[in-house]
Amino acid sequence: MFKKKKVISTFPTHVAFIMDGNRRWATERGLAKMMGHKQGAVSLKNMIETLVNYPEIRYASFFAFSTENWTRDQSEIDYIFRLCYDFVDEYKEKFENKNIKFISMGDVTKFPKKLQDILVKTMEETKNNTGLVINLAMNYGGRDDIVHAANILAERGEKITIENMKENLYSADAPDIDLLIRTSGEMRVSNFMLFQMAYAELYFPKIHWPDFDKRELDKALYEFSKRNRRFGGK
Ligand code: FPP
Repeated sequence: MFKKKKVISTFPTHVAFIMDGNRRWATERGLAKMMGHKQGAVSLKNMIETLVNYPEIRYASFFAFSTENWTRDQSEIDYIFRLCYDFVDEYKEKFENKNIKFISMGDVTKFPKKLQDILVKTMEETKNNTGLVINLAMNYGGRDDIVHAANILAERGEKITIENMKENLYSADAPDIDLLIRTSGEMRVSNFMLFQMAYAELYFPKIHWPDFDKRELDKALYEFSKRNRRFGGK
């Protein structure tokens, strides 16, 4: 018996990921919760390596730390910051080699100086790259993003329009999200990129983020290619 090959006919231009389930992944394996975040960082790196091989996908957004995550234990917050620093430090050369543009979405001024500096420096150094754009959401909230953009326009005395707003969101040059993937089975958007998500297709695999790999991405892309997107039209 031959299995019919699943062909992905239409690709999303912009995919967003809510990387949920790190701690559950660790608990289910009898590991310390932080090991879930550690493995989550590995999964993030693997996903970037995978995405550069899909030329149709031009933008990838990842939710790493929300404006609400500050209520977690300080030791967990410090651990995520450390993982973030190490990730950017390890990957800044790869961003250059693979022509990746790196953007940190959210207010970085609340972070330890060392983390702030590497995020700002890497954004600056990769700003002219023309390949895959990675938006890493750190201290990010969708409502905060909208208010931040509206305030920029208000301060400049500019009229608020949808186009003006889009240009001033943290994800500035990215088009609307086509596909949102939230791992772990939770069916919520949790204040992620609300403005950009207006017509996103939503996909909620049960698998936890540390287990999300190329095979899982292909399943999501196949499902996306079968959706009938009408954008409110006929
Ligand atoms: C959600 O799982 C995950 C987070 C709040 C943090 C995401 C962090 C990473 C993927 C680590 C790597 C980060 C960088 C920037 C390299 P959860 O902690 O809410 O897990 P649970 O839902 O099982 O409790």
